[in-house]
Amino acid sequence: MSAACLGIVSAIAQEQQGLLENLRQPRCVRHGSRDYTLGTLWGSDVVLVLCGIGKVAAAATTTSLIVEFGCDALLFTGVAGGLGDGVAVGDLVIADSLLQHDLDARPLYPQYEVPDTGKSRFAADAARTHALHSAALTVFGAGCPPLIDAATQQSFGLHAPRVHRGLIVSGDQFISTRTASDALRLCLPDALAVEMEGAAVAQVCHDYGTPFALARTISDRADDTAHIDFGRFIHSVASVYSLALLQALLMPKS
Ligand code: ADE
Repeated sequence: MSAACLGIVSAIAQEQQGLLENLRQPRCVRHGSRDYTLGTLWGSDVVLVLCGIGKVAAAATTTSLIVEFGCDALLFTGVAGGLGDGVAVGDLVIADSLLQHDLDARPLYPQYEVPDTGKSRFAADAARTHALHSAALTVFGAGCPPLIDAATQQSFGLHAPRVHRGLIVSGDQFISTRTASDALRLCLPDALAVEMEGAAVAQVCHDYGTPFALARTISDRADDTAHIDFGRFIHSVASVYSLALLQALLMPKS
């Protein structure tokens, strides 16, 4: 994923821990109540930042990366709840497009449509998404050795990760009941996963014409048990997957 300066965003600290540890010549700039860490990651100029949870936090951070830090491409990594059939805990979902499932200005505009854009689905950049998908298949494709020790795999019931690609939906709610996830599946049957930031990043990137790509590790099935192992999963699985994925994406091929 080549960019003069790539902004890498996650919501939660553990999701970026491994990236920070690999960052060369780090320099921290505090802006708008967030720490932006500039440096080089496997030879690419990057800005790492935690946006925090939710769409407003994600939109504000995305704007700063583009306007204040001059990022000309963005990448988001984090976790999501699985919605689609066969989208299981430990799988990866790469976004083709993103939609705000809680945006509803009816009867003025159709449900989900961002007013005055004529759009409800915002596409990720095709070339960067393709590169991210290829990197995910390299790391997690069939035959690859597991990155997680056997005890951790067993405790989360992990299998060999599958890589999915399609619609991810975002809203300012942690979806933690079967009733809520069923309602999303009914209204948005092609949604593969649900999270709380991606569609806001997509909308701001659309406004500025900035290409972006987004990958999520599935931490839960957005049901009544969604919250139980959430923190532990990010710490022991999602952070490992995120580091491996970005390394495969950014590290120059020999
Ligand atoms: N991120 C990870 N799991 C989620 C869920 N169940 N709902 C919203 N965002 C999430």
